[in-house]
Amino acid sequence: MRRVRALLCLALVLVVVDAGLVASGQPEDASARRHPSEAQPGPAQPALAQRPPMGWNSWNTFGCDIDERKIRGVADALVRSGMRDAGYRYVVVDDCWYVPERDATGDLRADPSRFPSGMAALGNYLHARGFGFGLYMSPNARTCAQQAGTYPGATGSGDRERQDARTFASWGVDYLKYDWCFGAGSPAGVRAAFATMRDALAATGRPILFGINPNSNVPGEPGETEEWCGIAHSSRTTEDIAPVWTTGHRNAHPMGVRDVIEVSADLTGRARPGYWNDPDMLEVGVRGGPGALTPAETRTHMSMWAMFAAPLVAGNDPRAMTEADRRVLTRREVVEVNQDPLGRSATRLVSGDHQVWAKPLRDGTAVALYNRSDQPAEIGTDLGQLGLEPGTYRVRDLWGEGRWTTEGAVAARVPAHGTALLRLEPGA
Ligand code: GAL
Repeated sequence: MRRVRALLCLALVLVVVDAGLVASGQPEDASARRHPSEAQPGPAQPALAQRPPMGWNSWNTFGCDIDERKIRGVADALVRSGMRDAGYRYVVVDDCWYVPERDATGDLRADPSRFPSGMAALGNYLHARGFGFGLYMSPNARTCAQQAGTYPGATGSGDRERQDARTFASWGVDYLKYDWCFGAGSPAGVRAAFATMRDALAATGRPILFGINPNSNVPGEPGETEEWCGIAHSSRTTEDIAPVWTTGHRNAHPMGVRDVIEVSADLTGRARPGYWNDPDMLEVGVRGGPGALTPAETRTHMSMWAMFAAPLVAGNDPRAMTEADRRVLTRREVVEVNQDPLGRSATRLVSGDHQVWAKPLRDGTAVALYNRSDQPAEIGTDLGQLGLEPGTYRVRDLWGEGRWTTEGAVAARVPAHGTALLRLEPGA
């Protein structure tokens, strides 16, 4: 069934034939309230995400501690630092922006104590500076913070999708992050719930990018095991990332950079223009939590997200960013690998501690030599293994200044947990 779905998805005509298998006995599960036919057709608007979305999101650094002054300050810092011009164009306000209860007509409201100017004003502020405006919501009764008990109320969009989509559109929202975050639900039921919001967004007439997280707390890990093309423009494949190298989790909260890369290796075939795998937001420059990434790990994080054609959504505080982090986030040659118009993800050619990955580009091939081990290593491949025609190739080191040519071997000395990111183009 999954194979059939993937084929249909390629044609951007998705017919969900198993949507009748909704969860039962879970009154708060949005999927249990829907008729199966609601999950049928209507692809997500494909023109919106021809390249992986790029932006900034409040969650990784601020969690629920957000207000309009902070968000505006971050937007200004994105402009000042060159991040906006490097491509980080959506500013996404994650969980906890709303009043815990809806108003008398059932509308969502921004919390007036933290967003006194209101969400439309925040949208205007962002639009005036060249940003898209993103907001977070959930299909079930509660958002993830409400589910976890760290924020009061129950404001999820379940059964109010049309009303909420109209509200978002009226505020000038350009990107909805829609997060399952509920400890139950069959993949088909989750699909039906997401399709309902997809259609509600489309009905507003406003182009709104739709990034979903079907993964969190759902038995069976449908972010990892299911294809969501036709439903959304991007879909989380893994549980929440933390600024740490590894937690040893395969797909449980929290995950380190190394852990996410391992899960992602099996999913790379899904990425294509209009639909992207989302291995979660960037932890570059995020301090606190269970640890911090070393410079080598930070470059691996950015390199591999570029190779995956993943959304690049910074999670740091750009108002207090180090120059080293700014350079990593704005490294033009690396962002170009991520944004390449061909829109293909890398595939892993060699697994284990010394990995080789290749990503076809419109004009060449990106190669990542990724050292998963705790020791520096020489990692090598060659044109044959990379699937390239024999000949002479120009090689560029995308994190350094190195340039050379090769007619066979491609190798680099790579620090522990580091990645050499190379670009090969035919010609001398
Ligand atoms: C999680 C999600 C995070 C963040 C959080 C908000 O489920 O994975 O990225 O959005 O909810 O509560």
